[in-house]
Amino acid sequence: MKLQLYVPDGRYAPWIEGFAEVLPEAECLKWEESGDASVDYAVVWRPPVEMLRGRTDLRAIFNLGAGVDGILRLRDEDKDALPNGVPIVRLDDAGMAAQMAEYVTAAVLRDFRKLDAYAAQAAAGTWKFIKPHRRADFTIGVMGIGTLGSHIARTLAQFGFPVRGWSRSPKQVQGVQTFHGEDGRGEFLDGLRVLVNVLPLTPDTEDIIDASLLSRLADGAHLVNVARGQHVVEADLLAAVQSGKIGGATLDVFREEPLPAGHPFWQEPRITITPHISALTLREDSIAQIAQKIRALGEGKPIAGVVDIDRGY
Ligand code: NAP
Ligand code: GLV
Repeated sequence: MKLQLYVPDGRYAPWIEGFAEVLPEAECLKWEESGDASVDYAVVWRPPVEMLRGRTDLRAIFNLGAGVDGILRLRDEDKDALPNGVPIVRLDDAGMAAQMAEYVTAAVLRDFRKLDAYAAQAAAGTWKFIKPHRRADFTIGVMGIGTLGSHIARTLAQFGFPVRGWSRSPKQVQGVQTFHGEDGRGEFLDGLRVLVNVLPLTPDTEDIIDASLLSRLADGAHLVNVARGQHVVEADLLAAVQSGKIGGATLDVFREEPLPAGHPFWQEPRITITPHISALTLREDSIAQIAQKIRALGEGKPIAGVVDIDRGY
């Protein structure tokens, strides 16, 4: 069996060694060196369009992340970029849900417990009580309650916050009030004190966080975006922060990454910026999951995480 790998940073050695350990029967090839060689599986993150176009040899394409927009976007460059009928398989948690829940919980608690205001007071040598938020008024909404979002929502519910979740189809998540579809969107959003975005990037969700959406949140609400930068109309968010409608934002993802040096977000103290680290692809967990799926496919068994290409996630 042959695997062909593509990782944009060119650091192949640990991936090749990892696969050799858990899937010793497989030969691992770097795409740059093996080019058009016939292989069984591609394992990729944001591959170039030349890698997948016209491939009739592949039995599946494994994506080294949860979001597959980096593969599906290839169709914008070339409508025949993706080989017909070859399943695209995304990472299904693989250690990301726990990381996301930590990141979002940290952002929520920092806001709820007014830690930035206390840090500013401490910097000025001030010892002073600040009226706390009421937990019952601190409603948190999670947009996207799939693998990652449902774990985030359950984690936040354990702190006793009122938590809402929104998905495309009806869903039940313990301790979470759920809404779905376009019809449920307004009720989900109304009065939220914190909005967490963990949607996949699709034609339906691009630019979803705009002035109209932000206007439905509570005054002074906080936005946490851990999904994709293209979900946010940046000028609308900046205006909402500057007007005070949005009290602050914690942003892990941006339309352009790295965030350009002159971008106005860098100058806005109420916006916290991290460099797309809220849930890293963990090599060991990812290799173990892909190897297990390759074995299952070999035995003709179904696997989780097969992308619905028309739906976009
Ligand atoms: P997932 O399991 O596929 O869940 C996606 C959720 O979004 C589902 O609940 C789905 O609804 C909902 N959804 C999709 N389109 C919708 C629409 N038009 N309206 C309402 N709800 C919609 O995906 P996941 O594994 O949780 O990952 C989510 C995203 O997180 C990824 O696509 C990626 O962009 C992002 N991510 C970011 C990082 C980072 O480091 N920043 C790391 C990993 C992932 P249904 O349940 O009805 O299908
Ligand atoms: C990271 O952004 C991922 O989609 O896994």
